[in-house]
Amino acid sequence: MSPVTVPAIINVDVPGPVISRHLYGHFAEHLGRCIYGGFYVGEDSDLPNEGGIRLDVVEALRALNIPNLRWPGGCFADEYHWMDGIGPKESRPVMVNTHWGNVEENNHFGTHEFMALCELLGAEPYISGNVGSGTVREMSDWVEYLTREGDSPMVRLRKANGREKPWRVRFWGLGNEAWGCGGNMSAQQYAAEARRFGTYCRDHGDNKLYRIAAGANGADYAWTETLMKQLGELGCAYRPAPFMQALSFHYYTIPGTWQDKGSATEFGVDDHYRTMVQAARVDELITGHSNVMDCYDPGKNVGLVLDEWGTWWNVEPGTNPGFLYQQNTLRDALVASLHFDVFHKHADRLVMANIAQTVNVLQAMILTDPDSGALVRTPTYHVFEMNKGHQDAASLRVDLPGGLPARQVDGTELRTVSLSASRKDGRLLVSLSNVDAGEAADVELDLRGGAIAEPRARILTAGELRAHNTPDAPEAVAPRPHEQVTATASGLRVHLPAHSFVTVEARLA
Ligand code: AHR
Repeated sequence: MSPVTVPAIINVDVPGPVISRHLYGHFAEHLGRCIYGGFYVGEDSDLPNEGGIRLDVVEALRALNIPNLRWPGGCFADEYHWMDGIGPKESRPVMVNTHWGNVEENNHFGTHEFMALCELLGAEPYISGNVGSGTVREMSDWVEYLTREGDSPMVRLRKANGREKPWRVRFWGLGNEAWGCGGNMSAQQYAAEARRFGTYCRDHGDNKLYRIAAGANGADYAWTETLMKQLGELGCAYRPAPFMQALSFHYYTIPGTWQDKGSATEFGVDDHYRTMVQAARVDELITGHSNVMDCYDPGKNVGLVLDEWGTWWNVEPGTNPGFLYQQNTLRDALVASLHFDVFHKHADRLVMANIAQTVNVLQAMILTDPDSGALVRTPTYHVFEMNKGHQDAASLRVDLPGGLPARQVDGTELRTVSLSASRKDGRLLVSLSNVDAGEAADVELDLRGGAIAEPRARILTAGELRAHNTPDAPEAVAPRPHEQVTATASGLRVHLPAHSFVTVEARLA
């Protein structure tokens, strides 16, 4: 059977909203082996490190141009007391990480270590403050400690701990999941807390804060509305309020139940399609939250942030259930590529997104072996790398005159082909996914308003959707040059094999 043909029109001379690089953000929590053993091994480790930070992890992640890193949680953020993580390591207090595995946390990775990590990665820090069990003063002091120049109590403390100059830290989260682990609050309660905490997180000097209020769980649009109401009245009466510049929401792709989320690697075709349906739902959710925000903020002054997203499977057999360690297959890569197409489409409102999480937890970029330390790049890593040219590029609208191929999955229509495009610095980048498990597709790109030269295509696919990378087979799923791209009178024909992700880059002539 010949592949279905999908016509797609892209006007390369009509740039749309800029795709913020922060849509490619990351998240590192004190959870399982994300920080300890993942990012941080301590100065005495045999693994090459700088100040205890693993240099192979840094090197791998630098290739992704990570724009920002969210830390220290997650649920952990609302029980973290930052002053426990400064000063000489041997005198830092030990606590119990009650959320994640009930293990002891020695606080050896704290504020200075996190800022050093961000500097090594070239990423902006995004700090989640403690609203749930912390105080307004504690968060206000943290901002002062990190960002104030000159002289003040917190500046003196920072200098005593070896850092003369302030850092720049724009992004501050006002708690996390306040509806759950962040305090079990109602939306009204949290809105009042966010106003209070946000008020006393001050701009010091020219370090202008971008405060991100903790938002909804999935489709809880009422939560978003409660927060947006704090800004003014319904309609056009938006009054910029200094306590928040953005609000967030979280959405995980979980095709199973909360109790049995399914295996990361042992799954069938039906499980795959259910996963894709759940992943595609992120479009509906961003649209829903954006619609609510539009009612109160039609000028789009307040940003929407999806600061936790990704797949969530059962933990790998034999690993600590509280550590959320999971493998990562070609299916996860397709979840990521679908998300990015949706993110690009919503670039006018969605200003940041953070995959959960970067190393050894949930949908990770990197897995490290607890015994040998061997590092593996996951299929998801490669999607981030292949797509990095979209960061800060102008989005380009994609028109689909013939629609998209689709399948019925438990009564829901799943579109099996997805694509998005952008331009930056005289270059075009088109990303295309075919999530069909068995059928190929040909996308006919009709590129209008400009010619292209030197197209270069890469493909991420494998013999089966369950394919994944391990220390013994680290390149089982890795990008390769893609030759099945042919010039047509008005653009390109791109062949997409079943379950594949393809990027096409070209110079705009
Ligand atoms: O990413 C794992 C956890 O998921 C985070 O700590 C929490 O915010 C969410 O429920």
